[in-house]
Amino acid sequence: MTAASVLVAGLALLGPSLLSRVEGSELPAQAQVINQRAFNVLNTTQPPAEFNADNIFVPPGHSEDSLTKRPFHVYDDEFLKVIGSNPTLTRIAHSPKDPLFHEAVVWSRETDEMFFVQNAGAKNSSTGLHKSAIIEKISLKDAATVSNKSDASGLVKVTTVPSSPMVINPNGATNYRGEIIFTGEGQGNDTPPALWLMNPQKPYNTTVILNNYFGRQFNSLNDVSIHPKNKDIYFTDTIYGYVQDFRPAPGLQDQVYRLNPDTGAVTVVADRFDHPNGFTFSPDGEYAYVTDTGINYGFYGMNYTTAASIYRFDVKKDGTLDNRKVFAFVSPGAPDGIHCDSQGNVYAGCGDGVQVWNPSGKLIGKIYLGATSANFNFAGKGRMVICAETDLYYVTLAAEGSFVESEM
Ligand SMILES: *[C@@H]1O[C@H](CO)[C@@H](O)[C@H](O)[C@H]1NC(C)=O
Ligand SMILES: *[C@@H]1O[C@H](CO)[C@@H](O)[C@H](O)[C@H]1NC(C)=O
Ligand SMILES: *[C@@H]1O[C@H](CO)[C@@H](O)[C@H](O)[C@H]1NC(C)=O
Ligand SMILES: *[C@@H]1O[C@H](CO)[C@@H](O)[C@H](O)[C@H]1NC(C)=O
Ligand SMILES: *[C@@H]1O[C@H](CO)[C@@H](O)[C@H](O)[C@H]1NC(C)=O
Repeated sequence: MTAASVLVAGLALLGPSLLSRVEGSELPAQAQVINQRAFNVLNTTQPPAEFNADNIFVPPGHSEDSLTKRPFHVYDDEFLKVIGSNPTLTRIAHSPKDPLFHEAVVWSRETDEMFFVQNAGAKNSSTGLHKSAIIEKISLKDAATVSNKSDASGLVKVTTVPSSPMVINPNGATNYRGEIIFTGEGQGNDTPPALWLMNPQKPYNTTVILNNYFGRQFNSLNDVSIHPKNKDIYFTDTIYGYVQDFRPAPGLQDQVYRLNPDTGAVTVVADRFDHPNGFTFSPDGEYAYVTDTGINYGFYGMNYTTAASIYRFDVKKDGTLDNRKVFAFVSPGAPDGIHCDSQGNVYAGCGDGVQVWNPSGKLIGKIYLGATSANFNFAGKGRMVICAETDLYYVTLAAEGSFVESEM
């Protein structure tokens, strides 16, 4: 048998494809089905030196253009519930050189604004060692008025938030008791990484709530999330400030911490990662998810044989983490920012956009950008903002973010 006839025989054995189940009128205009079985066997493949985590895979029968044109990629029927009947993706801002749209995407319910931050490790914007990354925001009302355009860059006002004292090199964020907690990556030897609390309304006043572990500086704090039941503050610490030349060599192993804001107790809840990065909880608080961007060594390049993975832990009654299991291994790129929807589906910013898994770790779909998204977030039900470094996107879809009351 030729390779092609083996392929056809294999397809016949596997029964009707997902494509035939969802094709036709029920597929939204901006969605397309990606049939994974169609590329289980490829006629030609390339060696790792030519095709690896840096390369976006274009399935046979598709082109980069066709993938971008209908950006909601359905890998499994379950994704149709997530996107609903008329999902939209709109570019609302573009910053050709300066990666203004990086991470810490967080919704302020009171003002209906989305906050986010500039990339602190970007050579082009000379942030990091000499200049702190900035916090910015948009009004979601403004974004909604352009949601039926595919490109509305320039039409939505991006405002710089003058936090005071200024949050130094913010990278991650979450809602906390009506305010916002930012993880700051620190700057040089003398400005330690810290957790900062910021008032989301004028005068955007801030208070540092943690800046050391028994006197030792953290490496560069990355992401933060509040457990929906015990309300403790969980956060990751990793080496990016060092591999982006704005922090000294690490003085601690990279790990995940927990702060009890009432007693001030700081404990370690998980270690043994390459580069622990994004962190979130399932909506019921039963699971914790940690992304590991192990393959990414900042200015020192990539190491493709390390983790690009999401790990899931059980959260025990006492708030400790147990039962580490690999939840997903991502390609291209690595999973960075991570959030759940109200149904427990898991979303992560990856090398080609936002990828989505059901609670069992099955890839069900993508919001495809053809470029890396480090982070994104829901704004309640039906709305999402995606950061993609030099581009900012507004999404409408059916899903609702897992936004727990205790975060307020
Ligand atoms: C593989 O090659 C066969 C025979 O040339 C061709 O019919 C088929 O379309 C190719 N498949 C892909 C995925 O390129
Ligand atoms: C810096 O900006 C230039 C010009 O836009 C671009 O070609 C280059 O890739 C950017 N470098 C980085 C590290 O982002
Ligand atoms: C796009 O949205 C605007 C404002 O809501 C509306 O006036 C216009 O009719 C919409 N256009 C299309 C093609 O849906
Ligand atoms: C901001 O200032 C107000 C008024 O003094 C205070 O109540 C609040 O706790 C401050 N918030 C932060 C995060 O510092
Ligand atoms: C990549 O990571 C592996 C596992 O940690 C290590 O053995 C190897 O030396 C690394 N390679 C490079 C080029 O850094």
